Amino acid sequence: MSEKRSSFTGKIGFVLAAAGSAVGLGNIWRFPYLAAKYGGGIFLLVYLILAVTFGFALMCAEIAIGRKTGQSAINAFTTLNKKYSFIGVIASVIPAIILPYYSVIGGWVSKYLAVFVSGGAHEAAADGYFEGFIAKPIEPIGWFLLFIGLTALIVLLGVEKGVEKVSKFMMPVLVVLTIVIAVYSMFMPGAMEGVKYYLTPDFSKFSATTVLSAMGQLFYSMSLAMGIMITYGSYMKKDVNLESSVRQIEIFDTGVAFLAGLMIIPAVFVFSGGDESALGKGPGLMFITLPKVFDSMTGGTVIGAVFFLLVLFAALTSSISLMETVVSIVMDKFGWSRKGSWLAVFIFSVALGLPSSLGFGVLSDISVNGMTILDMFDFASNSILMPIVALFTCIFVGYVIKPKCLIEEIELTGKFKSKTLFTIVIKYVAPICIILILISSVLDALGIMKI
Ligand code: PHE
Repeated sequence: MSEKRSSFTGKIGFVLAAAGSAVGLGNIWRFPYLAAKYGGGIFLLVYLILAVTFGFALMCAEIAIGRKTGQSAINAFTTLNKKYSFIGVIASVIPAIILPYYSVIGGWVSKYLAVFVSGGAHEAAADGYFEGFIAKPIEPIGWFLLFIGLTALIVLLGVEKGVEKVSKFMMPVLVVLTIVIAVYSMFMPGAMEGVKYYLTPDFSKFSATTVLSAMGQLFYSMSLAMGIMITYGSYMKKDVNLESSVRQIEIFDTGVAFLAGLMIIPAVFVFSGGDESALGKGPGLMFITLPKVFDSMTGGTVIGAVFFLLVLFAALTSSISLMETVVSIVMDKFGWSRKGSWLAVFIFSVALGLPSSLGFGVLSDISVNGMTILDMFDFASNSILMPIVALFTCIFVGYVIKPKCLIEEIELTGKFKSKTLFTIVIKYVAPICIILILISSVLDALGIMKI
């Protein structure tokens, strides 16, 4: 390779870029809706316990693999043990599948931001507005191209001048905006009902599916099992403390998810007069229910615009991490220049994003089991490939290269305080839990068991 490997300038840059990847649509839209569905406080509790054990161990493992080898996913596994390159290959396919459809949704967010900024809150709150918009053939594609174009531009600027700079700006702004809206939402008359619903554990709603759905959400939210953290780890300097970086990324990711709940659940409660089913509308929550909520509240146009701006920032830093990972894989695997790899990835992603966008209108006849094209990509990557990669990664680290190999890497900057936890989770707890997730998501898709 002729080009020197890029790197983040230091710990803050690394933590904010990784947190930028982790904090995304999953935190803001999916987390609150799952928390509302699975018993509020009890879901929060389960999620928190899983984040500091399971999520922590897996994230440490991935970042350590990246930093130890200085390579992105495919080559990283090959360097550690040739026979296991296949794990890197599957891991690399995932961000390549997610980036196009994630950008389609990023395009929708951009459209909503534009509508709210131009004072169109009322229009966006009308029945059928969202369905009408995504079914159009051309307009959503325009927004998709804008979003992915912006992502590509930042990635083109490089790790330090693009990814790191943008994250250092967007992430703090995102946190401030989230706090502002959460406070506003909590102090609306009648909002305390919603806050109580969100924070009080409803033990009667606790079941195995609470744990499984919290775990699935955790994977996605922390951008695990798709080579992203391996790639970012490969850009991490050796003198940065890996363990405390992971702790900080976790606090960031879980903190924003928690605040997103405080921002959305009370507001929806006030709007729906305490009807919790208004929260359970899946994807419709962000694009259908929330615009109605904003339209009904004082100052809602401004709050709505700020909300979609923060969602846009969250989505952008995540899509940047996806594209950066794919570009890095192409560079490492084929030895192409950064620019050449970038162009190839861009063209590929645009091509794959088009059918996802059209799947809600022109191509809506193509569907499997009620899933649109976008849903299919989402299902293949999140419910099938990610658990498989996570499982193989745990087995690889636990039994092939052995945890000690990564513990050495983590201890380059001092003692690894959670060493025992790390070893037990990777070797025993995680593999068993992941197998359960995998089984349940397959059963779920087949309609045998509904989570
Ligand atoms: N972690 C992001 C979120 O919570 C999602 C994501 C998945 C981002 C894959 C990048 C890659 O939304």
